[in-house]
Amino acid sequence: MENDIKEILLSEEQLKNIVNDLGAQISKDYAGKELILVSVLKGSVVFMGDLMRAIKVPCYIDFMSVSSYGSGTTSSGVVKIIKDLDTNVIEGKNLLIVEDILDSGRTLNYLKQYLGTRNPESIKICTLLDKPDRRDPNLKEKLVADYAGALIPDAFVVGYGLDYDEKYRNLPYVGILKPSVYGGE
Ligand code: IMP
Ligand code: MG
Repeated sequence: MENDIKEILLSEEQLKNIVNDLGAQISKDYAGKELILVSVLKGSVVFMGDLMRAIKVPCYIDFMSVSSYGSGTTSSGVVKIIKDLDTNVIEGKNLLIVEDILDSGRTLNYLKQYLGTRNPESIKICTLLDKPDRRDPNLKEKLVADYAGALIPDAFVVGYGLDYDEKYRNLPYVGILKPSVYGGE
């Protein structure tokens, strides 16, 4: 597994600091509010587990599963809901969508609109990683992460929950995958 990694982008130590900073900011911003963390499966589970423990205000958690990627490395643009929220009523609640990575932005744009129809008080986005260079030109202004752990270059990364073809999620750091693994140069 380690042999397929070209370069470590964020070490365990760096990830810890990033997540603690995000947790502190979120705790401040949501003080006194009813907060529901919505983790997007499966990529965000590791981040979610650490982030929720860095948040010092009471919060609920829920999970959604959507598919936007097959086994390749580029977004199809087609988003399918595989698992919806367990929470029945989100009207009047503050939702914070927790994502592993914001790439083209199509997945989160869809999710935000989808959940928005149920009249929550607010919907914000917390992503561990953001690849701004990859954003769909139509979403450039429309979709911004309210909280982003780190801006990263246009490279395919794995680890700390992120996968390639369902592999590498258990690496404790975020690393750039060798392009030879997915048939690139
Ligand atoms: P988007 O709809 O193009 O923004 O796709 C976002 C989803 O694509 C993320 O939730 C990831 O599952 C996946 N993704 C995008 N870039 C990467 C990457 O570099 N490594 C692993 N998964 C990625
Ligand atoms: Mg994902």
